[in-house]
Amino acid sequence: MKVYERPSLKALNTFGLDATATLRIDIESEEDLLALPHFEPATDLVLGGGSNVVLASDVPGTVFVNKVRGIALLDEQQGQVDIEVGAGENWNNLVQWSLDQGLSGLENLTLIPGSVGAAPMQNIGAYGVELSSVVQTVTTWDWRKQAWRVFDYEACQFDYRDSVFKSVEPGRYLVTSVRFRLNRRFTPQIGYAGLSQALEGQELTARAVSQAVARIRMSKLPDPAKTGNAGSFFKNPRVEASRGEALLEQFPGLPAWKAPSSTTKLSAAWMIDHCGLKGMQAGGAMVSSQHALVLVNSGGATGADVLRLASQVQDSVEDRFGIRLEPEPNIINFSDS
Ligand code: EPU
Repeated sequence: MKVYERPSLKALNTFGLDATATLRIDIESEEDLLALPHFEPATDLVLGGGSNVVLASDVPGTVFVNKVRGIALLDEQQGQVDIEVGAGENWNNLVQWSLDQGLSGLENLTLIPGSVGAAPMQNIGAYGVELSSVVQTVTTWDWRKQAWRVFDYEACQFDYRDSVFKSVEPGRYLVTSVRFRLNRRFTPQIGYAGLSQALEGQELTARAVSQAVARIRMSKLPDPAKTGNAGSFFKNPRVEASRGEALLEQFPGLPAWKAPSSTTKLSAAWMIDHCGLKGMQAGGAMVSSQHALVLVNSGGATGADVLRLASQVQDSVEDRFGIRLEPEPNIINFSDS
């Protein structure tokens, strides 16, 4: 365990927002948990890779940084391989490790920033695959009961960019490890627009898919290592199928996908782009000129700048399309509570 007083959180969030906390505690082993002070949701925060948060205020209490590492091969049966991974491992390092082991299942999720422990929180997803399709269990520390709790797949309540950890009981559970079921035999999932084209003329392997996803991401999305951002800032909204049809009649170019329970998922990026908002700024925050769904730190942005810009985007899209976009990252604002 490492403890720092009055830490800056700037390097701990990919948006690069400048905030502070009273204390920072790095959790480096499961044993560290037993020695930790109590977690107080009203004042404390847990960070993994910091790639899906907007620090809109300072943290009045302690920031716990999850650094529990380790990857263990557990079991192999009929080509299915179970692995247990510490929450503090870097997500993309895990993807690359799995490819080196000849395992598939994670290749479409290449280059998603952040840590393994944060991945189940928002059920990360990209290029036609969601984390939920490979998760077996999520092991957590229940801060309230001071005890371990293992969530099986059902208990995680995974949904589009959502889980029990994110919206049902936020802050109650610290993810310490995730168990995945991967495959020796590769089944390509390349239905997502643009992915099969990016693979044309190549032998279809998990590594080739991973490399194609990396190329697409690097060409479309701003690199958080260069320009601070938290990936997609808004969820793609889901509307009743009938409402979707009406919108498509009015806006024939609007990309739309069939979603569960007679709903239609609409492209938030397209709507924002169509409102002409790329490049719009509020203080140091800007709608990326590369991808309309991403808000970036164009230099010295504060959390307040990001929130102001986000609500301007929400207002414009609502005026034009009658839909209020929902932010995707966790907005951390202790001055609200
Ligand atoms: N589009 C525009 N303007 C833009 C960008 C995109 O009109 O500036 C249009 C594109 O033409 C395309 C559509 O919007 O038809 C969808 O764009 P894209 O394929 O880039 O995907 P997305 O729906 O915007 C989602 C995820 C991304 C994920 C990609 C690929 C959400 C909120 N976002 O974005 O996830 O990488 O699909 O699967 O679901 C993230 O969650 O942080 C993230 C980056």
